[in-house]
Amino acid sequence: MFTQAAIKRKSVRSYSSQKFSDETKLEIAQAIKELTPLYDDAVTNFKLVPENLIHGEVKGRAVKAPYYIIISADKADGYLENAGYMAEQLVIWLTEKGIGSCYCGMVKPREVNDIEGEYCITLALGYPAEKESFRQSEEEFKRKSLEDYLIGDKENDFLEPFIRYARLAPSAVNKQPAVYEMNGAGIVAYRRKPGKILNLEKMQRIDMGISLSHIFMYAKENGLHVDYYKDNVTPKDKLIYFISLNIMEEIEDE
Ligand SMILES: Cc1cc2nc3c(=O)[nH]c(=O)nc-3n(C[C@H](O)[C@H](O)[C@H](O)COP(=O)(O)O)c2cc1C
Repeated sequence: MFTQAAIKRKSVRSYSSQKFSDETKLEIAQAIKELTPLYDDAVTNFKLVPENLIHGEVKGRAVKAPYYIIISADKADGYLENAGYMAEQLVIWLTEKGIGSCYCGMVKPREVNDIEGEYCITLALGYPAEKESFRQSEEEFKRKSLEDYLIGDKENDFLEPFIRYARLAPSAVNKQPAVYEMNGAGIVAYRRKPGKILNLEKMQRIDMGISLSHIFMYAKENGLHVDYYKDNVTPKDKLIYFISLNIMEEIEDE
């Protein structure tokens, strides 16, 4: 269940050396095929690479793990948000299976490599080391208050749990750039403008998709559908508009 896995998930930075069985590798490949993109026409690639090959693929500071998934995509509008949106569904699926993961934002592909499309992010993964444990409760999260995630009308009993789960999503350097405006059954998603010192623009686009995927997975678990659309919203100081969402009853296929 998403709600349980969202609470259990944390960035795992110590792994056991236990390898995945062939069956687990196949299950991961199948889970990747079943991820839902933010845009129907988005082309995103997930490449599973074992530890002994990763340094030939990428350079930079990666969390040490037995496996990595290199995520790249066709460079269309919103490709980074979409990469985060899909990657986080996989992270939640992995968590449900007892597999730990950590996004590695400090990694870049080697120039010589023919990574398909534009590089987005690398995910470290494997079984957590014995000393690591998943989270047990919401109180263990270091996050801004729910209040800080919201602008405008902050009272909406229907939408509040969606934002509660978006708040538990991981983000680069734990900056938590996503901000939401609730309105009836609709949510407007914004991203805080990144600070000038750490240039986190690319990472925070990924963060935005990660955060939105928690809203999507919460809706799915509750038999609800999320409809995304771009709107003409009044520009807001220090915030970048990303997308608007309507939460609707799931429509059965005819
Ligand atoms: C896009 C992105 C990039 C990240 N890059 C790194 C990284 O390079 N190294 C690292 O140790 N953690 C990295 N993290 C993990 C964050 O530090 C972590 O999500 C945040 O501190 C919140 O902690 P939690 O994931 O345990 O809830 C990254 C997370 C995201 C979403």
